[in-house]
Amino acid sequence: MIIERINFRKIIDSRGNLAIEVDIETTSGNGRCAAPAGASTGIYEAQAYPESGINQGIKIAQKEVLPKLIGMNVENQEHIDQTLIEIDGTDNFSRIGGNIAVAISLASAKAAANGKQIELYKYLKNVDEIKIPAPMGNVLGGGAHAVGGTDIQEFLVTSFCDNIMDAMLANVAVHSRVKNKLKKRLPKHALGKGDEGAWVAPLSNLEALEIVVESAKEIGEERSVEIKTGLDMAASEFFINNKYEYKEMSLTSEEQINWVAEIIDKYDLYSVEDPIDQEDFDGWAELTSKTNALIIGDDLYTTNRNRIEIGIGKKSTNAVLIKPNQIGTLTETRKAIEMAHGAGMVTVISHRSGETTDSTISHLGVAFGCHAIKTGSVGGERIAKLNELVRIEEEMK
Ligand code: PGA
Ligand code: ZN
Repeated sequence: MIIERINFRKIIDSRGNLAIEVDIETTSGNGRCAAPAGASTGIYEAQAYPESGINQGIKIAQKEVLPKLIGMNVENQEHIDQTLIEIDGTDNFSRIGGNIAVAISLASAKAAANGKQIELYKYLKNVDEIKIPAPMGNVLGGGAHAVGGTDIQEFLVTSFCDNIMDAMLANVAVHSRVKNKLKKRLPKHALGKGDEGAWVAPLSNLEALEIVVESAKEIGEERSVEIKTGLDMAASEFFINNKYEYKEMSLTSEEQINWVAEIIDKYDLYSVEDPIDQEDFDGWAELTSKTNALIIGDDLYTTNRNRIEIGIGKKSTNAVLIKPNQIGTLTETRKAIEMAHGAGMVTVISHRSGETTDSTISHLGVAFGCHAIKTGSVGGERIAKLNELVRIEEEMK
């Protein structure tokens, strides 16, 4: 499966921004992958494109990456990924762009799976028993994904069912119940949706949380489904001069830890992502020690093994969010997941707020044994990943 041709193409993502799509043709199979883009990016993640933009990244990739990769075997993933890291030469892919690197890396794996005529999840499978991750989808939100919404970026639900369709439908039903409640509560207000399809409304953080908790409880009872509520606070976005600055309050680090622990308790939250600033490993550890909820590091770790290792040492979290374009290669993504699992931590594979219809993460989540997949509840680029899980489950059976 020797690489014969690599094509770089600009497409647009769900926000209308330019995104990279890479096609790889080999002697026996082809692969295509498009990269997503974040809005509330962590400071330690790979730089999506070089300073001067996507065109510059494509130019460098054509000039430097292409000649090295042509002739390589796509089954040799680690070698391809190492070559990308070496050609880039920086520690955050700022020269060729992490998004260009990750699209090349994943397109290579897809070409290899295609050459073997098997699905990507099967080609990559590194767990004994594969299962479909639970869908975690946001239903209400704000932060960097919306104008005029809550400070907390995402209010999410995760449904646990023995088939993916029931779980997806349960999440969708909560999304729809939230809309009905918002219509009743704010009859004179226009309702909007954020970048990931979650509702946006002028509510305080706790008003929003109560609506989601109530909706999840109602739908769970109506359908006899276990539906859990969670948050992605994206707290680094509003951690300013050592204070967590909400519209309605300003909290010190200690106050933030106590407040989050309190709401976890009061609302029986299942998961809280990025409740603490991305630099404060000790603050994270203090919160994690106070609760049984999943405390998920996204901006804290940026899918980076060096940072996950610090978190393991300090017991900062019990869960890791995984976004392949934060680190730039499939190999690094896999190793980050293995490191987290090795330390007894749970992983959640995730979309970005700017997405395409690419559904590679669905395969990675299944292949690598991720506990959940965070990929929205509704919207074309979100359901692309969910519906791919339906197909994977069908094939598994
Ligand atoms: P993003 O954030 O806008 O950087 O994709 C999503 C998230 O925080 O999980
Ligand atoms: Zn996040």
